[in-house]
Amino acid sequence: MSLDGPKSGVIGWPIAHSRSPLIHRFWLQTYGLPGAYDAIAVSPETAETFFTTFRSSGLVGANVTVPHKIAAASACDDLSGTAEALGAVNTLWLEGDRLLGDNTDVHGFLANLDEKAPGWEDAEGDALVIGAGGAARAVVYGLISRGLQVVIANRTKERADQLADAYPDARSADYSALAGDLGSYGLVVNTTSLGMAGKGQVPIDLAGAADATVVADIVYVPLETGLLRQARQRGLRTVDGLGMLLHQAAPGFERWFGRRPEITDRLRAAVLADL
Ligand code: ATR
Repeated sequence: MSLDGPKSGVIGWPIAHSRSPLIHRFWLQTYGLPGAYDAIAVSPETAETFFTTFRSSGLVGANVTVPHKIAAASACDDLSGTAEALGAVNTLWLEGDRLLGDNTDVHGFLANLDEKAPGWEDAEGDALVIGAGGAARAVVYGLISRGLQVVIANRTKERADQLADAYPDARSADYSALAGDLGSYGLVVNTTSLGMAGKGQVPIDLAGAADATVVADIVYVPLETGLLRQARQRGLRTVDGLGMLLHQAAPGFERWFGRRPEITDRLRAAVLADL
């Protein structure tokens, strides 16, 4: 890695545990490209100034993570259709002195499903999304863009209602229904932090799920959450969250460093070794 090439990084607070530097540095090294990618801690109090002065930061672009995705969207001169629809940006780049923003979480989520569960769209039944936060918004948007009908179940029902109200193809369901007779969904996705160590598990019973149901989690630590274990034991196809993290990183890398990177088993192993 050379310091002479383009400089990028990931902006968040806290940021120390971000895996993005590992991923981008792995690619820089693999392809022998000049450039640098760092973790950049930006506090909520300084975020607005950081983004409005981004043009003089020396960075060609950046990833943006919690809690700055909305502030980053406000600071951009122009947004991709996806970023505009979500009101949230996770990938920034400069064109001249125009600051542009995209949201590649949607691409990351869909590309991971396409890779790990090919044909997932063909399973009969609607998609069930658990959660209604920022991650759920990207997932719901992506599923609807692929033509699916989406059911949203969230602990706080009003948030599920609100998210569902934004789309004719989405509706909400009671959170307590997850533990009952689930009905047949083609896809079940957890977008909450449930499943992470110490967070408890999604209160769902997959016993009655259809055999063709695909079960996905966006959590990747641990790689196999309680939800995915239950699905595997039930014989269902499962998709863990690591691929979403890797796929969402690729479009930014290509913009800043000029090469579309590959998501390889070596990269997966490098990230897994660091989890
Ligand atoms: P993110 O942007 O990562 O999605 P968020 O906006 O804070 O984060 O949303 C977190 C999601 O996880 C929400 O759907 C939240 O449910 P509430 O809206 O009821 O808060 C869900 N969540 C977090 N902890 C949970 C728990 N212990 N049980 C059920 N849902 C939980």
